Amino acid sequence: MLVSAKEMLTKAKAGKYAVGQFNINNLEWTKAILLTAEELKSPVILGVSEGAGKYMCGYTTVVGMVNGMINELGITVPVALHLDHGSYEGAKKCIEAGFSSVMFDGSHYPIEENIAKTKELVKICEEKGLSLEAEVGAIGGEEDGVIGSGEVADPAECKMIADLGVTMLAAGIGNIHGKYPENWAGLSFDTLDAIQQLTGTMPLVLHGGTGIPADMIKKAISLGVSKINVNTECQLAFAAATREYVEAGKDLSGKGFDPRKLLAPGFEAIKATVKEKMELFGSVGKA
Ligand code: 13P
Repeated sequence: MLVSAKEMLTKAKAGKYAVGQFNINNLEWTKAILLTAEELKSPVILGVSEGAGKYMCGYTTVVGMVNGMINELGITVPVALHLDHGSYEGAKKCIEAGFSSVMFDGSHYPIEENIAKTKELVKICEEKGLSLEAEVGAIGGEEDGVIGSGEVADPAECKMIADLGVTMLAAGIGNIHGKYPENWAGLSFDTLDAIQQLTGTMPLVLHGGTGIPADMIKKAISLGVSKINVNTECQLAFAAATREYVEAGKDLSGKGFDPRKLLAPGFEAIKATVKEKMELFGSVGKA
C-alpha cells in the first residue's frame, strides 16, 4: 500500500538521515527501485515528473503499475508515490489518480501567488492524508550550466511557505538538475543553515542529487535535509550498461535481442545506483 511521505520524513529528520526520491520512467525503473528498497529495508519515494507521467500513459497507469508491483513483489517497506515538480493542475490530477504525495512547484510565481496556490493544495492534501512538497527558489536545469550555480532561496520566504502547513520544503541552495558544470560553486550551506534555523523540524528537500559529492550530501543531511532527489544518475547508469551490452555485440548472439535480456544490465545498473545512494543517505534498515 502506498503511504504519505510524512512519517518517513519526520523520522528521517529526527534520525539525521535522508530518504531518497528516485524518479521512475518505466516498468524496469520502478521494479529496480522497489526491489532495492525492499532488499535494504529502506523507505523510498518514487518520483514522477509530469513528462514521465505522460510517457507512462498517464497518472492512473502509473498508480496501477506501482500498486500492482507492491502487491506482486511483496514490498513491505514504506513507499510514497510522488509527483515531482508538479503544476497546480498536475497536482490535482495526481491526487485524483491515487498518488500518495505531490509536489507543487510554484517557485517561478511571485511569492504571493506561490503562497496562495500552495495554501489551497495544503487544504486538499490535509483532507486526504497526503504529503505535499513546496518549493522556494527555482532549481536550475542543465541549460543553466553556464551560470555555474542554481538559485539561492530567501530564508524568510521559506519560512512563509513552511508555515502554510506543507509536509516538506524544497529550497534552492545552489543545486542544479542534471550534471554539475565544472565551475559549479557548490551548495550554499549558510543558506541551508539559515533556512533550517527558521523552519525548525520541517524536512528539507535537496533536488539535483546527481553528482553532488558525498561530503556535501552528508553535510546537507546534518543541516536538516531529509529527502534527496536523484534522477539523472540512474539514467546515466542505465544508458552506460545498455551501451556496453550492445557494443559487446551481445544483442546479436543467441536470443540476446530479447528485451528481457537487452534491458537486464541497465536494470542491474539502476539497482546498484539506488543501493549506493541509500547507503550514502543513511536510510538502509530504517523501514
Ligand atoms: P537529478 O536529475 O540532477 O538527479 O535531479 C533530480 C531531481 O531533483 C528531481 O526533482
